[in-house]
Order: sequence, then structure tokens, then C-alpha cells
Amino acid sequence: MQGVFITGTSTEVGKTFVGTALARALTQRNIKVIPRKPIESGCTKHNGELIPQDAVALKEAADYPGLLSDVCPYRFEPPISPVRAAHLANKILTTEQLVNICLQGSEEGFVLVEGAGGFYSPLAENGLNADLAVALQLPVLLVADDKLGTLSQVLLNVEAIQMRGLPLAGVVLNTINEVQNDYMDNTADLRERISCPVYTNPYLNGGQVQLSETLIDSLINNPGSNKPLRIVR
Ligand SMILES: Nc1ncnc2c1ncn2[C@@H]1O[C@H](COP(=O)(O)OP(=O)(O)O)[C@@H](O)[C@H]1O
Ligand SMILES: [Mg+2]
Repeated sequence: MQGVFITGTSTEVGKTFVGTALARALTQRNIKVIPRKPIESGCTKHNGELIPQDAVALKEAADYPGLLSDVCPYRFEPPISPVRAAHLANKILTTEQLVNICLQGSEEGFVLVEGAGGFYSPLAENGLNADLAVALQLPVLLVADDKLGTLSQVLLNVEAIQMRGLPLAGVVLNTINEVQNDYMDNTADLRERISCPVYTNPYLNGGQVQLSETLIDSLINNPGSNKPLRIVR
């Protein structure tokens, strides 16, 4: 299966921001993108229907003709862990159910999956985001908020992804805050310590980010392949 599992060091780090940019870039290259955000909490209610904003954004960016319920069937209102939100709605969802959503139509194009929260955030009754990524055997793209403290977060995630035996397509350092620390250079510090590519997104006050062509090429041509991931200590 061709695709990517977009995870993050946490929530609100730019997973959807990167996912939509990637969906647009692939679509521009005439690659059919199958967006999947199998479970989403923090949905807003409109006319009695729960609207999953991430899934809507991914569907739009991918120009996906399928149904929103194919992209995201499991929706919850409280902005909390999806598993807890499901419990509050008296629902129990398994990793296998989420896998099925991601596999539906997967043979038709590039499957772009956004998890919820971070790599080790619980996603289903019996699994974390990591377990869905492993079940799908998709390469991982790790998104991090580029700030003080990010080095440890990224290295921990890289080690976890490595332990799960998944290829890591790269790390995207995403500048979310307008005010930056001029002395900090997480990109350089990470490049010295991990063997996978490290990409950066500048702070954007509106507009759309242009992802690195190298990243897009590598995702299309089987990312993170073969090369063992290395963390330098
Ligand atoms: N490079 C950036 N520049 C400016 N704002 C950004 C950037 N990346 C993300 N954001 C904003 O940060 C917020 C969180 O990003 P989002 O993609 O929703 O995170 P996640 O999907 O990880 O929860 C959103 O409002 C998004 O528009
Ligand atoms: Mg998101």
C-alpha cells in the first residue's frame, strides 16, 4: 500500500497543516490521494451533524470525491482523547475498525492517514496511534512544533518509531509561533543526531506552505526505505 501515516510529537503541532499541504502537492502531481482521519474528537455540531474539521480539510486538500464519512466515520464532540470521548458516547472502537477505514479504497491511490494526538496517544480501545501505523505498515512522517524542548520530544518519538520497526520518512519542524528564539537551531541539532531527513516549515501568517520537493519525491518513491534509522548519542 502506498501512503503515509502523519503523526506528531503532540496535538496542535501542525499534523493537519502538513497533511493538507502534502495532499495538495500530491494532487497537483496527478496522484490520487485517499485521505483518512479515522477518528476525530473535538468535532463541532452543525444542524445535528458532528463535523470533523481535520477530515474536512484533508478531503478538500485532496480534492477527494468520496464521502466525508469514508474519511472520518468516528466523530466525537468533546475535545479530549478520542478513546475517552468514545467512552463518553458509550462506544468502544478497536484498532481493527480504524484499520478497515484506512484500507477502504486504499488500492486506488496514495493513502494519507492523520492520527490523533501523538504517536503514543491512545487511538482505540486496544491500541495507540503507533498500533494503527504498525497495522497499516505505512511510513511515518513526524511533525513537531519547532520550539524549545522539541529536541527531546523528537528523539523520543524517533526511538519509538524505530522500535516499532516502521520507516521514518522524515521529521517536519513546524514553526507555529510568530516569535522565534534566534539562538535556537533545532534543525541543525537534529540533523546531527538522527539519520532521517529533517524538513522545516516557516511560520505562515495565512497562505499555504510549500513542502520540500525532496520530501514529496521520497514519499512517492517509498520513503525511509532500507536505510536503518540511526540516533547518534
Ligand atoms: N507553519 C505554520 N505557520 C503558522 N501556523 C501554523 C503552522 N503550522 C500549523 N499552524 C497552525 O497551528 C495550529 C495547529 O495546527 P494543526 O495542523 O491543526 O495541528 P494538529 O493537526 O497537529 O493538531 C493550526 O491553527 C494551524 O493553522
Ligand atoms: Mg489535526
